[in-house]
Amino acid sequence: MEYKSQKVAYPYFVIALFLFLLQVLFGLWLAINYFFTLPQGLVNVFPFATARAIHTNLLVLWMLLGFMGGTYFLLPDETKREIYSPGLAYFQLVLLVVTGVVALVGFVFGWTQGRPLLEIPRPLDFAVVIGALIFLFNVGMTMLKGKNWTVIQGTLLAGLIVLALLYLFGIPFYHNLSVDWYYWWWVIHLWVEGAWEMITAAIIAWILLKITGVPREVVEKWLYVELGLFLFTGIAGIGHHYYWLGAPKYWLYVGGIFSGLEPVPIILMLIDTFKHVKHRQLEIKNPLVWTYAVGCAVFHLLGAGVFGFVHTLPMINYYTHGSQVTAAHGHMAFFGAYALLNLTVFYYAIPKLKGIEFFKESLGRVGFWIMVIAMTGMGLAFGVAGVLQTYLERVMGLGYMTAQGEMRFWFKIVFSFGLIFLSGVIITIYDLLTLKPSVKREG
Ligand code: HEM
Ligand code: HEM
Ligand SMILES: [Fe+2]
Repeated sequence: MEYKSQKVAYPYFVIALFLFLLQVLFGLWLAINYFFTLPQGLVNVFPFATARAIHTNLLVLWMLLGFMGGTYFLLPDETKREIYSPGLAYFQLVLLVVTGVVALVGFVFGWTQGRPLLEIPRPLDFAVVIGALIFLFNVGMTMLKGKNWTVIQGTLLAGLIVLALLYLFGIPFYHNLSVDWYYWWWVIHLWVEGAWEMITAAIIAWILLKITGVPREVVEKWLYVELGLFLFTGIAGIGHHYYWLGAPKYWLYVGGIFSGLEPVPIILMLIDTFKHVKHRQLEIKNPLVWTYAVGCAVFHLLGAGVFGFVHTLPMINYYTHGSQVTAAHGHMAFFGAYALLNLTVFYYAIPKLKGIEFFKESLGRVGFWIMVIAMTGMGLAFGVAGVLQTYLERVMGLGYMTAQGEMRFWFKIVFSFGLIFLSGVIITIYDLLTLKPSVKREG
């Protein structure tokens, strides 16, 4: 670690990891609901919807904290100066975590705005906005004072600003529900298929730069192409969510065509990463981080590109909309693109924060493979449940509960893979928090 202020990233990482674990525990609880009839008394006080809100909001919270911590770690290295105000960075962390905890406890008591992934009520939204503004101010000032402007910084800053601006669209409540969902998607879709992709592109470019030692121009040149394509396909691709909510019919075409093209930039990102594999002789300084970065690129393509593409065309989505096929894609995409991205950053940054040059990688590798294999199994099981559901309910026209009965078995498989996934998460967190130095480079 070259700059003292980089250490503000550490508490962000630790809290993010803890929330990740909690998120997974709630996921297991959700899965149980699908194959085990819980006592009504329990359902009355802790319904499925509450657990689901906790599961998905924890996801958003830990990933945002991870991105912020990652940004604070990367920033001094890119700008060649200390963070503008480490004090503000700590303050902002406390503010966001307290807001998050209040929101989660609030859900249990029914204090919610009701829109999936953005359930947190209005007053807390303002706390989030203040936290985001402090963050942007701190990042912006660091870059401004740094006078070492790079494409990576620009992309990252643009992604973070767009992320914050889009959040604002989720705050008002529109009485016309079609309008309300319309703007809800501005946050959700334009986040994960726009702003977050920009952040990912910038961070992956930086990590590749750091661990392969390739010249900066090589990674930055691709950033332009990928970004242009991400924005081109991602912005109009939002139409794949407007099919059935009351928006005009042309969205069927716009959404179908542009979201159909969305896998293209993701494929480019993968090709880009594999090009760096060829530069391996440049000596990969940290093989496990490398495994994570390649894993992220591959799983990003699988979860977002492949599992997204299969249900994105209107004639298919007509049948699969809102089924467990969606859940299959949601898990694979969020895990592949953003959970693995965060973990890539953690494995790069945490050893540096602890002053460890080389560390024992065996446990970290075990954690990686368990999580990747278990998530693949879970995604496929969700997918089979979804196809069954689609076929029984929407093609054969059988009742909702008849279809649910047939799906039970597959939720037991989801749960079993979920338990394996949990073990991978525990191993990974344990490993990250107790990294042991090794005398020489492994791998
Ligand atoms: C990393 C990027 C992505 C993430 C994290 C992601 C995540 C999600 C999530 C969580 C949902 C469920 C939203 C809800 O209804 O509650 C969803 C829906 C959807 N996603 Fe993605 N997605 C990504 C990229 C893509 C791409 C590239 C495509 C198309 C090629 C795609 C196609 C779809 C479609 C069609 C739906 C709607 C499913 C339905 O009608 O029920 N996604 N996505
Ligand atoms: C043990 C691991 C996990 C299990 C068993 C699990 C299970 C579940 C279940 C049963 C649902 C509700 C689906 C429904 O509404 O019908 C759900 C929702 C969701 N989970 Fe998980 N989950 C796990 C881990 C994760 C992880 C690691 C991520 C992301 C990295 C994630 C992201 C999501 C998302 C985005 C949704 C909402 C999906 C949608 O809108 O369709 N989950 N999870
Ligand atoms: Fe989307």
